[in-house]
Amino acid sequence: MTFRTHTCGELRLTDSGKEVTLSGWVQRTRDKGNLLWIDLRDRYGITQLFLQEGESKAELLSIARSLGREFVIKIVGVVSERESKNPNIPTGEIEIKLTSIELLNASKTPPFTIEDKSDGGDELRMKYRYLDLRRNPLRQNLALRHRMSIATRSYLDGQGFFEIETPYLIKSTPEGARDFVVPSRMNPGEFYALPQSPQTFKQILMVAGYDRYFQIVRCFRDEDLRADRQPEFTQIDCEMAFVTQEDVLNTFEGLARHLFREVKNLDVAAFERMDYATAMKLYGSDKPDLRFGMAFEELNDLAKNHDFSIFDEAELVVGINAEGCSEYSRKQLDALTDFVKKPQVGAKGLVYIKYNTDGSIKSSIDKYFTTDDLKKWVDRFNAKPGDLMLILSGREEATRKQLNVLRIEMGNQLGLRDPLVFKPLWVTDFPLLEWNEESQRFYAMHHPFTSPKPEDIHLLDSDPGKVRANAYDMVINGVEVGGGSIRIHDRGLQKRMFSLLGFTDEEAMNQFGFLLNAFEYGAPPHGGLALGFDRLTALFAGHDSIRDFIAFPKNNSGRDIMIDSPSPIADEQLNELHLRIVQ
Ligand code: AMO
Repeated sequence: MTFRTHTCGELRLTDSGKEVTLSGWVQRTRDKGNLLWIDLRDRYGITQLFLQEGESKAELLSIARSLGREFVIKIVGVVSERESKNPNIPTGEIEIKLTSIELLNASKTPPFTIEDKSDGGDELRMKYRYLDLRRNPLRQNLALRHRMSIATRSYLDGQGFFEIETPYLIKSTPEGARDFVVPSRMNPGEFYALPQSPQTFKQILMVAGYDRYFQIVRCFRDEDLRADRQPEFTQIDCEMAFVTQEDVLNTFEGLARHLFREVKNLDVAAFERMDYATAMKLYGSDKPDLRFGMAFEELNDLAKNHDFSIFDEAELVVGINAEGCSEYSRKQLDALTDFVKKPQVGAKGLVYIKYNTDGSIKSSIDKYFTTDDLKKWVDRFNAKPGDLMLILSGREEATRKQLNVLRIEMGNQLGLRDPLVFKPLWVTDFPLLEWNEESQRFYAMHHPFTSPKPEDIHLLDSDPGKVRANAYDMVINGVEVGGGSIRIHDRGLQKRMFSLLGFTDEEAMNQFGFLLNAFEYGAPPHGGLALGFDRLTALFAGHDSIRDFIAFPKNNSGRDIMIDSPSPIADEQLNELHLRIVQ
């Protein structure tokens, strides 16, 4: 090996006396006059290098003194025991007494420190992503991502899945998020779209008889960005033929548990199952965080007819019990009230009932309810002395959503959302359709290829909003990690679905003719799901944001700051792509 015999993370006390060659980046130098240390870093760790005035050659000392942060060097030296050991790093017991240093490349002073906690702001670190990626936390994130992808492939291979690539230049469809489109030079005025997911292709692969398909695949969606959303992101995309919903859930619960075992050395219990209606009723969310309780209690029967107009006029009065919080001060309760009144949450106010440790009950609605009345509330919540009940009211759907936000906030405040505890569940039986007030039409809640539950098909014409789908989400710790469904494989039902979604026959043929045609050639029953790979990886590391689990992510405006994209293109290119009329 010309450049190295070992990595910078490898050498131990047992290697003492060996002559080694290492290459890497200068993390820092410490010059104590007659003693000089250099921390040399590579992907694998840090090794301390050592020079001593009088013992080391003058030339070596002079090169060492000229080194700046992030210079790239190759060294030769002898492994020896350190005088003051560093128990915090694996190589902390040794150092290398240098016999040679070769400067491989100099470096400008980096614009931020390459340390676990950097002093660089987000934008600066994204502009110099290659420097940010040198930092331990990012390297660990990408290492985790790598291990997850290898473990995924090995599990799915073991289950007989074929990894098959599908095209990136496909056809724009109006459903779902906005498409990113690519103009076609060879077909003037026509565009490809980048896939939001390989959904239709994987279904076609089932028609083609490939039975079990998967792909770790990039997907593109032009939607507003958040911490858990990137315009290009990766899915573990899967599809199976001749399966029931139960088969799909078991297979991918198996994958998730395999990943927990292989990557985190964790045995997670069998996933809980909860249907959509129950999740909404108990947690006001289709992705409940089950690391803690605080399930909703409905209170209409206790709340109404007490001359308290806010409750009397409300469609729903509903609350949660924050255990052990009866000592919350006025200030804390005011802060919670302000929290729920923020425009992002949107509640009008917050009612509380304190079940004090001495057994007395104090509430913000004492004027309207007697202690005996409130005792009934306390019983409804199964509260114990020391508990605090928080109650919201208003329109049903909105109030549930608001209480969900408050529940999560209380979970945070009470430290009940430990990022390293994992509570996965399947949410099942999603509604097939979702009504949109603005456009006055139904949209597919999952996508238009999702099959209705057979027992609900009779409602398709009379009450489409009530039809439930064979659709499911994998939810872990309040994060939608993945989703899928059993698909429609019958041409007639698929056409009916398109028509419910407001497509004319012609539009349906135009957009999805290839799939409808394929369904005429023996489509097997099939279903599948896609897991958000970035989200799953971030979740495994206990993070909310997926950005630092992607090597080269976009910022919140969808820009890649490092390469400065998107960017204008030359007139010549525009002309060639028929995007501008030639003058
Ligand atoms: P869906 O749209 O639910 O389903 O996507 C599956 C999973 O992908 C992740 N995800 C995202 N991750 C990061 N950034 C985004 N912008 C983003 N959008 C989605 C989520 C989500 O659960 N074809 C169907 C799957 C199927 O039916 O088989 C699909 O794409 O974790």
